[in-house]
Amino acid sequence: MTYTETDLVAAMEQLAAEHVGALSQPQLDGIDQFHAGGAEAVERLLPSLRLDPTTTVLDVGSGLGGPARQVARSSGCAVVGVDLTASYVDAATTLTEAAGLSEAVRFLVTDVADLQRRDFDAAFTIHVQMNVADKARFFAGIADHLRPGARLAIFDVCRTGTGEPNLPLPWSIEGTDSYLATPDELVAAVESSGFETVEWVDESAWVVDWFTELGARLVAAGTGATLPALLDDGPTRMINFAAAVSDGVLSVHRGAFERR
Ligand SMILES: C[S@@+](CC[C@H](N)C(=O)[O-])C[C@H]1O[C@@H](n2cnc3c(N)ncnc32)[C@H](O)[C@@H]1O
Repeated sequence: MTYTETDLVAAMEQLAAEHVGALSQPQLDGIDQFHAGGAEAVERLLPSLRLDPTTTVLDVGSGLGGPARQVARSSGCAVVGVDLTASYVDAATTLTEAAGLSEAVRFLVTDVADLQRRDFDAAFTIHVQMNVADKARFFAGIADHLRPGARLAIFDVCRTGTGEPNLPLPWSIEGTDSYLATPDELVAAVESSGFETVEWVDESAWVVDWFTELGARLVAAGTGATLPALLDDGPTRMINFAAAVSDGVLSVHRGAFERR
């Protein structure tokens, strides 16, 4: 099983030897962005979402909440994050309180299908669908909660068909919860769920460069509180992911879609 870590904020504070509220933004970026490309990847997604302070955005699979807080800080919008892992939602909520963003950003432990609200102005999902076998159902669940014309942005991992990545990976320790699609299969699943493609960009080369600089960036941040240190078998999971993208076994794509 993956995502079994608990008491994450206590673990962060132990690694950092200080209160999470004392960590700088670059230090937080190194621990609460659970995907390739970190805060820079979220920056690349933002323009396609067309956000402003009047909009409310849905983040599906919000993890530790780094992307949701970044989106709220950048655009002034409200964000609702949903995730199936209760301990991650607890950590996301505590980190959001520490950042003074609780008015704008909140997190719920729920399947997106069970959310009441159905008129979100936009949605994003980052590195989540790799854990989902029925991708058409997953994206239809997101479409059901968006108003017509709303944008969906994704930053996601695909298999290229040239081999299998080594385990463990950030989203799967044993492989039993990993469901990788090819880029064409992923776009087809999104389009079949009520979306038109606006943009579909292969970001793999950029991600390889980002991974190459990651070690130096984490050292420069000057804290022991890093995502690889926080996760079970974290360093091996990150190294295997970086190697698979570098070797062309996995690709990372950025997509923008519009709700029909
Ligand atoms: C690799 S983490 C990415 C977290 C976050 N999106 C980020 O980029 O920082 C994957 C997250 O997806 C969540 N997840 C997996 N399947 C899910 C589903 N069907 N619905 C909602 N969340 C899911 C996991 O609990 C985990 O928090």
